[in-house]
Amino acid sequence: MDNSDETPCLFPPPDRLRNESHVKSMDDYKEMYKRSVEDPEGFWGDIAKQFYWASPPTGKFVDYNFDCRKGRISIKWMEGAKTNICYNAIDRHIKNGQGDKIAFFWEGNDPADHDSGNITYSQLKDKICKFSNILKQSGLKKGDRVAIYMPMILELTVAMLACARLGIIHSIVFAGFSAESLADRILDGQCSAIVTADGVWRGSKLLNLKSIVDVALEICSKRDHKLSHCFIVKHLLPKGHSVQQNGDCVDYPEEKPAQRPTRSLKINWTDGRDVWWHDVMGTASTDCEPEWMDAEDPLFMLYTSGSTGKPKGVLHTVGGYMLYSATTFKYAFDYQPDDIYWCTADVGWITGHTYVAYGPLNNCATSIIFEGTPFFPDAGRFWAIIEKYKVTKFYTAPTAIRALMRYGDEYVTKYDRSSLKVLATVGEPINPEAWLWYHNVVGNKQCAVVDTFWQTETGGHTITPLPGATPTKPGSATFPFFGIVPVIMSDEGVEITDPNVEGYLVFKQPWPGLMRTVYGDHERYETTYFKKFPGYYCTGDGAKRDEDGYIWVTGRIDDMVNVSGHLLSTAEIESALVEHPTVAEAAVVSHPHKIKGECTYCFVTLKEGKEFSDALVKELMDRVRKKIGPFAQPDFVQNAPGLPKTRSGKIMRRVLRKIAVGDKNVGDITTMADETVIDKLFQLRPPEA
Ligand code: WTA
Repeated sequence: MDNSDETPCLFPPPDRLRNESHVKSMDDYKEMYKRSVEDPEGFWGDIAKQFYWASPPTGKFVDYNFDCRKGRISIKWMEGAKTNICYNAIDRHIKNGQGDKIAFFWEGNDPADHDSGNITYSQLKDKICKFSNILKQSGLKKGDRVAIYMPMILELTVAMLACARLGIIHSIVFAGFSAESLADRILDGQCSAIVTADGVWRGSKLLNLKSIVDVALEICSKRDHKLSHCFIVKHLLPKGHSVQQNGDCVDYPEEKPAQRPTRSLKINWTDGRDVWWHDVMGTASTDCEPEWMDAEDPLFMLYTSGSTGKPKGVLHTVGGYMLYSATTFKYAFDYQPDDIYWCTADVGWITGHTYVAYGPLNNCATSIIFEGTPFFPDAGRFWAIIEKYKVTKFYTAPTAIRALMRYGDEYVTKYDRSSLKVLATVGEPINPEAWLWYHNVVGNKQCAVVDTFWQTETGGHTITPLPGATPTKPGSATFPFFGIVPVIMSDEGVEITDPNVEGYLVFKQPWPGLMRTVYGDHERYETTYFKKFPGYYCTGDGAKRDEDGYIWVTGRIDDMVNVSGHLLSTAEIESALVEHPTVAEAAVVSHPHKIKGECTYCFVTLKEGKEFSDALVKELMDRVRKKIGPFAQPDFVQNAPGLPKTRSGKIMRRVLRKIAVGDKNVGDITTMADETVIDKLFQLRPPEA
């Protein structure tokens, strides 16, 4: 029998990686792993020695209660120890003689924009200190919250690290969120100031960020919350230009490259609040002593969707997050000092926090910050950038891989990718077809594919292969990272040990990078993550283990939908829909999507006498965009004169999921109040679904 066409199911680590890597075999991995879970203090204590601490922990190295039956959930690593993550990420390397090493190459949206991009560790430190001094002079201090709503530019990392230097808690909001979402986050965190930019080109679209911030701050002030400062980076406007009066207009760009239509960037100005970044940076001092923080002081909060609709401010602390972001970066990408590393994620998401900023900087890595999109000016952009900078380690999302696959291999193969060693993914399960294309076409079968499973809450990778050690299987995130004890749990709370049985993915003991609380709502933290299975952290994802012990994450098992790697709450979309005057009720479910992985499918019941129409569908889609952000726009909106409900009135979502995909086999409906709605809903499915 000829097996030559068959795809192997196990991919050994590439030899050239094995020889140079930190962990060279599964035996080495197992030994390190064993120590990490049996002797966390020894394992993380050794790692902590590589960082600068102004003083050691005053109490236990790690102290926690993971079991809500025994009282308040609490997790503490190295409490009492004093350090500063900005100092460790920047100053420490300069002291070690690495000041001239490039921290970031900046690649603009337009390939012609790259000129001013590179920044060394020393240059970065000067900018961070300057902005720290500006924050200080503006009256901001340790423990205050500052919102950041910025494009992927170097100033974004400057702003976040300046906050970290002073112990100001940064709350970065992805600059694709709507004004309302931004306002909700500012209000929840009671932020005192915000940093933004005039605008940004994303592909061929111009976004006026300042005007979105203006609307958000207006909403805040209506709710009695005023911000003292709004710092604005002149990213598009000429640096010398000074808009100081309401409504001043600037035509941008002055010389227009072919792809860019001339558009006006209108800036409104609020005296006393608005400050041009460049006006104040010029004269600020480049010296700023870091604030020595307790290891357990908050570092940042970052909002993630909640199944009840309201986003949760996930809070991470200084010491544990520093160790965990740096260590996962080092091992999962097998970081080496001569690497050119590129993570395509936006800093507005956790992947950008940990693997564009803190992880690489704490390893003194050189990485790329990319402002644009994979499709601009064409679908070869990623591979052009890889060729240009000779990228060695590359980290992106399955949704981007699936989208790029459709353009054909030539977009990839015309560029030189021979520098690549590690190809990593994050955000959602990667289907084997995309995994194989990534491995075979992008990586030319020479690279390790690293599928990393983790969450905003976990701070860094939790399940991931190690490039030089782990034989991989397409679609499996493989084995736990150091310190992580995964368990597959049955609905009844029994640990599943049989292979290939799906259950809840939970973690048994804390690791340094795990979130410490939901900002301002510790009870919600306990309820969301620790109540379902006392003694375990519950991820909200399903998973199974195969006969070789490989973990396969199967996706969310709560009311969240993962659209292109962005977690969306169905409840949040439902509440945006029912705000429309014609909508009485809405139910949103997940629907498979070829590129996005999943998308949302909305059933809406209209009020008496209201008509369903294409125009209404468009209005409802726009409403969700406006309320949450463009990335949340539903793919399908269907008329639902009635919804399938149990006799006690609960919407039967599993039935709706079947209807959404046109599967007549809806399962057990004996508890349903009125079965006739099912046929009706099948008839009303939109033809494109
Ligand atoms: C999903 C992103 C399968 C999962 C870092 C998780 C994944 C949610 C993977 C967290 C993966 C992330 N395989 N699913 N490799 N990576 N997920 O908070 O559902 O934006 O719970 O963090 O993304 O999304 P978040």
